[in-house]
Amino acid sequence: MRPAAPAPNAAPRVLHVAAEVFPLVKTGGLADVVAALPVAQVEQGADVRLLLPGYPAVIESVQGARQVIDIGACFGALRVRLLLGRMPGSALPVYVVDAPYLYRRRGGPYQAPDGEEWPDNLQRFALLGWVAAHLAADDADPAWVPEIVHAHDWHAAMACAFVAEHLPTGAASVFTVHNLAFQGLFPMHDWPLLGLASRLMSPAGLEYHGQLSFMKAGLKFADRITTVSPNYAQEIPTHEFGCGLDGVIRGRGAAVSGILNGIDDAVWNPATDPAIAQRYDAGRLAGKAACKRALQAELGLSPDPGALLMVVVSRLTAQKGMDLLLAALPELLPQGVQLAVQGTGDPALEAAFRMAEQAHPGRVQVHVGYDEARAHRLVAGADVIAVPSRFEPCGLTQLYGLRYGTLPLVRRVGGLADTVTDADEAALAQGRATGFAFDAASPRALLQAAARALALWRDPPTWQAMMRRGMGQPLSWRQPAQQYLALYHEALRAKAG
Ligand code: ADP
Ligand code: GLC
Repeated sequence: MRPAAPAPNAAPRVLHVAAEVFPLVKTGGLADVVAALPVAQVEQGADVRLLLPGYPAVIESVQGARQVIDIGACFGALRVRLLLGRMPGSALPVYVVDAPYLYRRRGGPYQAPDGEEWPDNLQRFALLGWVAAHLAADDADPAWVPEIVHAHDWHAAMACAFVAEHLPTGAASVFTVHNLAFQGLFPMHDWPLLGLASRLMSPAGLEYHGQLSFMKAGLKFADRITTVSPNYAQEIPTHEFGCGLDGVIRGRGAAVSGILNGIDDAVWNPATDPAIAQRYDAGRLAGKAACKRALQAELGLSPDPGALLMVVVSRLTAQKGMDLLLAALPELLPQGVQLAVQGTGDPALEAAFRMAEQAHPGRVQVHVGYDEARAHRLVAGADVIAVPSRFEPCGLTQLYGLRYGTLPLVRRVGGLADTVTDADEAALAQGRATGFAFDAASPRALLQAAARALALWRDPPTWQAMMRRGMGQPLSWRQPAQQYLALYHEALRAKAG
């Protein structure tokens, strides 16, 4: 029997569908969001579950997993089962699509160890969406039927098309765009694998310039679309930021809105962080100075408290504006800046940062790699965190910086513009400034913002007031979780027509 629809103010049953979740599988901020948002929604009284692909790390970590249904053969896999367990160390229920042929491999969630996309990503992520739709249609787990299918990024987007076009269900779908640049494009000749009506094999459906686009499945068929910051929702209907899909997005009109990400303040909290040299908070900033000393020693940077220690914790890609920072470096360093970079990505950028490290021993330190605990030490020990992105749907590291009294230096785009208040004269006078922002995607603009940072660095009372202001900024998931719950009701009303 299908559970009754929720009363208008009751929190609905929500299924989050995603390809990664911290700490099991993470390539970026998506994993952080998928870990923290459901928990915050549960705290608001919602009935929330996750649906994940059964990668080895998921199968090994999910606790108390039991089979819900044996789905049999589909999407090229001989055996697909749906399991239900709990996230490690939490009561959050998580469904796992156990399809060994598709998911149990060495390598990343999207790419093989050699960096190539998995050749069967269409099957791997169509299956994820298809299972979500079956849960919503009440033919996978009769004990729990979601009323909202909340799909994250292109990997989960097919859930929206299957819910709308394939399986009759009362569930509404919400699609969150974390990054429009990654779209899930596949050859059109793979269309028959999806089992969708052929009328959708057109630009009005999933076709994108002769290819099949999973991102379009979310943008076209979700009842509501969100982006991870209000500003990004304003940007993506434009040619500059729309990644070729701006027309589709404009077509969805008021169904598109932005809800700013929060941060997991249990994981990112300088007062309790087990990874850092000394804990601190806005009232006890001495601990931060200890973290800086420890970080300079760890990284082999000269132990100079007067140097402005700037860090980057990021994918090293063009999106993140890393080339701007590299180009600005020769002018930044003589002004008393130290730079510590941690990231992986474009081999050319990795090599360029390594060369900068060799050229400037004691002033530049580069770690090509991924390391969570080290990221905490960098954020805690630094004076400034640089995020000079060309585009940034939300960005989490500037939020970590704010929380840790590490002033963000950002380009004024996407969520960076929503979260950092530039220390211009007016903001300083009104006591609103929390960081430094620049407009043009150029080394010159970055340098000008850095020059303003350096000027304030020589004015400790003003600098510390900015640190304390950022540390006091509400960044938790509580408010975004409420906003999503309100949006779910809107989506259900839209679906009910
Ligand atoms: P994106 O998702 O576009 O990469 P975000 O700022 O939203 O950018 O999220 C990036 C997340 O990945 C943050 O939690 C950040 O700390 C983490 N991260 C990125 N690179 C590294 C790295 N090399 N080591 C540790 N954490 C990293
Ligand atoms: C994407 C975006 C990033 C955002 C993250 C989490 O990876 O690039 O800006 O913070 O998703 O929503």
